[in-house]
Amino acid sequence: MGEGIEQIKGEAIEALENINQQADLEAWKVKYLGRSSAIMGVFKSLGTLSKEDKPIVGKNANLVKVALENALILKEELLNQHAIYHTLEEEKIDVTLPGRKTASGSLHPTTQTLREIYKVFGDMGFQIYRSQEVESDMYNFQLLNFPLHHPARDMQDTFFLKSSQDRGEDPLLLRTHTSPGQIHAMREHTSKYPEDPPPIRIILPGMCFRYEQITARSEIQFNQVEGLAVGKGITFGDLKGTLSNFARRMFGQDAKTRFRASHFPFTEPSAEMDVGCFLCGGKGCSVCKGAGWLEILGCGMVHPTVLENGGFDPEVFSGFAFGMGPERITMMRHHIEDIRYFWANDLRFLDQF
Ligand code: DAH
Repeated sequence: MGEGIEQIKGEAIEALENINQQADLEAWKVKYLGRSSAIMGVFKSLGTLSKEDKPIVGKNANLVKVALENALILKEELLNQHAIYHTLEEEKIDVTLPGRKTASGSLHPTTQTLREIYKVFGDMGFQIYRSQEVESDMYNFQLLNFPLHHPARDMQDTFFLKSSQDRGEDPLLLRTHTSPGQIHAMREHTSKYPEDPPPIRIILPGMCFRYEQITARSEIQFNQVEGLAVGKGITFGDLKGTLSNFARRMFGQDAKTRFRASHFPFTEPSAEMDVGCFLCGGKGCSVCKGAGWLEILGCGMVHPTVLENGGFDPEVFSGFAFGMGPERITMMRHHIEDIRYFWANDLRFLDQF
């Protein structure tokens, strides 16, 4: 009998050792400690034993039962620990891994340049004035001193709107520059203050359109920022001071500027402003094409005819104006060689800003 009990124990312990998941423990418990288990059979058979054997077998059977119960508890704990360990293993975090980058949007490079321009002129007291993209020939050209058939129009190939052709000499078109906004702003101002209009200091940003071959250097759609200051006693010195200050704020305190004589129908005298190449410091590089200077904008003193068209008496008032291309400025600053990137919507390009 003693051997039989030891065998029961041995078998049960071996079975328990082979278990490696919590779910199998219940079946083991039923099989080896349950009502119909071998050890329970021993207890049931005690009545049939002799007076001498009974206490010994009973005691041994009890020891085995307790040993099996303890073994079960230990096994349960072991499996629990394994489970915890596995969870920890699976959920462990490698703190040395670099974090995952969250994708974030950014402002278009032209928008960034535009906002810088707004800030610089805003600090000098210029307000923003916006006007329409669909203009008439009158505003886009004639009132700016480009007469009909004037050769200067050739510089600005124009998208005319088909439906406007029966307007005779004043067809509608997509504005080729932001300069017509000058006339709108001056007329609005002089009709609001017909007696003695206070000075105007505005910038006029906006989209412009030209009917051109799209190449690395020219797009059919681009931004301009126009500037206009009108008042009493405004001189070319004010123009130079304002634009030189702009260049220093935009391109660095050491930025050198130079003004070259030029021609625009709506300014007299007219000039173009160059900035010393900020990439090579004036020595000559691929961006400035060896010149050491970059052309930034056109400017000049507002032509008396244009002042008059805006409602100002050119005998009393004077003013200066300028116009620049923020895409061009962005291209120079970031060494972008092809203007077509600005409208291509290629994230590989946009992500860099
Ligand atoms: N409107 C001119 C253009 O598109 C740029 C320009 C030049 C504007 C001189 C001005 C100016 O106001 O004074 O080419």
